[in-house]
Amino acid sequence: MTIDLSMPGSSGLLDAAGGRKHMNFFSNSYVLALTGAAGIGGFLFGYDTGVISGALLYIRDEFPAVKDNYFLQETIVSMALVGAMLGAAGGGWINDTYGRRKSTLVADVLFALGSLVMCASRGPNMLILGRLLVGLGVGIASVTAPVYIAEAAPSEIRGGLVSTNVLMITGGQFFSYLINLGFTEVPGTWRWMLGVAAVPAVVQFVLMLFLPESPRWLYWKDEKAKAISVLEKIYDSDRLEEEVELLASSSMHEFQSGCTGSYLDIFKSKELRLAFYAGAGLQAFQQFTGINTVMYYSPTIVQMAGFTSNRLALLLSLVVAGMNAAGTIVGIYLIDRCGRRRLALTSLSGVVVSLVILAMAFILQSSSSFCLNTLNSTCQGALGWFAVAGLALYIAFFSPGMGPVPWAVNSEIYPEAYRGMCGGMSATVNWVSNLIVAQTFLSIVGWVGTGLTFLIIAGIAVLAFIFVAFYVPETKGLSFEQVELLWKERAGGNQGSYQSLSVAAA
Ligand code: BGC
Repeated sequence: MTIDLSMPGSSGLLDAAGGRKHMNFFSNSYVLALTGAAGIGGFLFGYDTGVISGALLYIRDEFPAVKDNYFLQETIVSMALVGAMLGAAGGGWINDTYGRRKSTLVADVLFALGSLVMCASRGPNMLILGRLLVGLGVGIASVTAPVYIAEAAPSEIRGGLVSTNVLMITGGQFFSYLINLGFTEVPGTWRWMLGVAAVPAVVQFVLMLFLPESPRWLYWKDEKAKAISVLEKIYDSDRLEEEVELLASSSMHEFQSGCTGSYLDIFKSKELRLAFYAGAGLQAFQQFTGINTVMYYSPTIVQMAGFTSNRLALLLSLVVAGMNAAGTIVGIYLIDRCGRRRLALTSLSGVVVSLVILAMAFILQSSSSFCLNTLNSTCQGALGWFAVAGLALYIAFFSPGMGPVPWAVNSEIYPEAYRGMCGGMSATVNWVSNLIVAQTFLSIVGWVGTGLTFLIIAGIAVLAFIFVAFYVPETKGLSFEQVELLWKERAGGNQGSYQSLSVAAA
């Protein structure tokens, strides 16, 4: 790529080697606190999507109508995903129109309301309503938290900070599995398991009342003084001047300053379209490479591998969730050092290898001739452990790369006027793909067998590798303004750019 990514007021990429004072992840406690507060949305995302598998066991016991009705059970589980899809789609618009702070507050109200409705449910209908409300909150939070964090983050640590929200997601999932395991012998406690999620929502609501709006959104909405006073908390005076100059230069070529763009623009402007395809493609591949077959069904997969004890299966799935969270920490460390592309490509290579191992273990286990020459049960047992090793390897490779990279890239590749909208549409792609995978995984296993199913997912991971290699640009360390120039360069000129849309709209 020949593009000169330098911008007025900065020495562009030379900054990386030049005199500018660089921040590290722990440099600024204000940015870290903001990330932590925004990340509560990620925690609720993880907790609410993880807790239901355990809670459902007790809900079934309490409501006979649910026990005998698979459709009702599936609806209770997937209604949160439906809510998340709608929440992400609408959340993008709320973000661009009303700002990141108000969007977070709306998500918190939905989280709290949904949790309380579920806690007080007298039957499946109320539960379904509660799941829908919580899902709407999850969807809005999934768009808002990464963007809010990215817009406050210094560019050299942006990837790590946005990935901290993913750590909160994986941490929330781990915590929910812990709760599921802890409550295995306690009937009736499902109300607590679901209701307790209202507490972090209230905590985040209160914290957000004290945190400022995103400086970039404020600047774009022409609230320049407020924006600068937020930036003053993040940068020292030299860097502050440079950041404000960058903002001023970008607001000159944004779609009419302060005026929210329209969804149609995304398909009219080539550079927006290119960015959206890269972001949405990453989100779809994140889901179609199978992470949630593992997160939602790891106890089932472990049992398919021959470990029949419920408790052992739950325990192993807790280990999987713990590894996933630990791997995300590795991702936080690597994403601003190796870059998004290298991290995603390495992650996908390992994912392919581990899925093939997993597939082979299942295929050999089901082939009647393979274990005939050895002691049959020892051979089957060894294959079971082989499958568990494949699962562990999968998580070890997925979690630092394909877990955080799609969220990080989507928080930084769109111009200000479309950041919420494009990020929201892309997150919707993530949730729709999530639902498709979750709803079809067990049926596909039923049709073609577990081994072949994992081979199909491995094939998708190969496609994902090719997609990242040829389509996703490196955005490590680039300012938002440099990323805009990058898309302009790729679009090859200004025809159909969002600047010309702004002229048309003026
Ligand atoms: C994904 C979720 C997934 C989680 C698991 C996130 O990045 O978006 O769908 O459940 O990672 O680690």
